Amino acid sequence: MSASRAIKIAPSILAADFANFGAECAAACAQGADWIHVDVMDGHFVPNITFGPATCAAIRPHISGVMDVHLMISPVDAYIEDFVRAGADILTAHVEAGPHIHRTLQAIRASGAKAGVALNPGTPAEAVAHVLDLADLVCVMTVNPGFGGQKFIDMSAKIRTLREMIGDRPIHIEIDGGVDPTTAPIVAGAGADVLVAGSAVFRGGSVDNPAPYGENIRAIRAAAEGTWV
Ligand code: DX5
Ligand code: ZN
Repeated sequence: MSASRAIKIAPSILAADFANFGAECAAACAQGADWIHVDVMDGHFVPNITFGPATCAAIRPHISGVMDVHLMISPVDAYIEDFVRAGADILTAHVEAGPHIHRTLQAIRASGAKAGVALNPGTPAEAVAHVLDLADLVCVMTVNPGFGGQKFIDMSAKIRTLREMIGDRPIHIEIDGGVDPTTAPIVAGAGADVLVAGSAVFRGGSVDNPAPYGENIRAIRAAAEGTWV
């Protein structure tokens, strides 16, 4: 990793205590999280339902860093303003969520948030070739979206292709799914700089015992930076 592309760890609250999101977000931030990753699912684009803008607005004051909202919903456009009003700093839509990802990314940026575009494992890097100038982040899914705790799918070739396509443009490559200290070096080595991790951050701890969150975050970061022993 070059020093200019510092690794960011984004705990996913999908693996946190759903009855205690505010305290979970605050604990993860206090323990070293750079971003908080918020998984919105609609039971239509993915076979699971989580929560919507009201929950995002409720947790926003408990997040000291970036609120990174991953929309696993279709359609997207009608809800962009609601999520931006709820405090999303980054709003990521799936390229597979509809026929007009270009329009969606334009709308996200016009609403004042940074725009992300996500790719399912079966979708090639080339699907975002003509929207990269509208994107601040490309999210490479390393599981099929819908659930936490799934097995990592190696997308290294896609990550390398995207890194080449992006060149020196200021666009993050985020990895989502199955990231832990074993898989983090694979994706960081291929060119990713934002690592989402749910189970691997929240395991072993709680809001009353948050120290394991910090240990887990440091382990993933160290592994990604190549210093894990
Ligand atoms: C999956 C979600 C992920 C998920 C990652 O649909 O987008 O953010 O929470 O969870 P882990 O890290 O447990 O694979
Ligand atoms: Zn996600």
